[in-house]
Amino acid sequence: MLNGKSVIVTGGAKGIGRYIAHGFAREGAKVAIADVDEARLQQTLGELGELGADAMAVRTDVTNEDAVASLMAQVAERFGGIDVLVNDAAVVPHFMWGDKARWPKVQDMDVSFFWDTVMGAALRGTFLASKHAVPYMERGGGGRIVNLHGGGGVTPPGALAYATAKDSLVTFTKFHAEEVRDANIGVVIISPGAAIATDEAPQEAQERMPGPDYAGPRFLLCAEAPMELSGRLLDYQDGELVVLR
Ligand SMILES: NC(=O)c1ccc[n+]([C@@H]2O[C@H](COP(=O)([O-])OP(=O)(O)OC[C@H]3O[C@@H](n4cnc5c(N)ncnc54)[C@H](O)[C@@H]3O)[C@@H](O)[C@H]2O)c1
Repeated sequence: MLNGKSVIVTGGAKGIGRYIAHGFAREGAKVAIADVDEARLQQTLGELGELGADAMAVRTDVTNEDAVASLMAQVAERFGGIDVLVNDAAVVPHFMWGDKARWPKVQDMDVSFFWDTVMGAALRGTFLASKHAVPYMERGGGGRIVNLHGGGGVTPPGALAYATAKDSLVTFTKFHAEEVRDANIGVVIISPGAAIATDEAPQEAQERMPGPDYAGPRFLLCAEAPMELSGRLLDYQDGELVVLR
């Protein structure tokens, strides 16, 4: 039962995070969205209110530890704890839309773009949010952390930084799950299931590609996943979660 649960969705202002936040709101959860995009945060907060959710929006750069610690404290204070964390925030290349330039090859890539921007949002962000959410989950008797996987074709070149960040999260999930298993905190990782054209994609891409609803209820199921699935890379097939590895 997600009704009344306290849920945080990082990257929840737009795209798949917005879709995830809507899903939890429809289930009656209390939903906090955290993102760097202030304008879209406020817009999505309004939508969550229209869905009847007790909702809050906190402008947060997930790579900033003080900001992340403050986010968790604000949500725990307002909602009475933290039950679910969805680590959606990432810098996503969206190469399938329009004429987006591929990212540079390693030999041409700026170190701060690789480490700070791409690895930072996905890996540092997931680490920091998990680090600061877990103590509240422990106090509440347990919780669930849902990490976001993703990828991209090896050729043509361009997706290396993004795919490296996202695959690193599979290992992070596996190891973090064992650290918190005894506290009844489950940690899983799952992708939306396909390359998705979000609400920000050009019209032609939205017509050609699946939208966020392609993901179905997978993120909601992950928020209630049995502890046996903790640590695993999951997929959603035929109406249920399945283990990929
Ligand atoms: N769209 C796809 O095809 C696809 C496929 C597989 C996985 N995913 C995953 O789904 C998630 C969402 O992707 P999306 O397509 O909705 O992308 P998106 O760019 O629409 O959304 C990402 C959100 O994260 C926010 N963000 C980025 N850096 C941040 C930071 N440092 N602090 C806080 N917020 C930050 C952005 O402002 C944005 O709102 C990502 O984790 C992505 O890897 C997407």
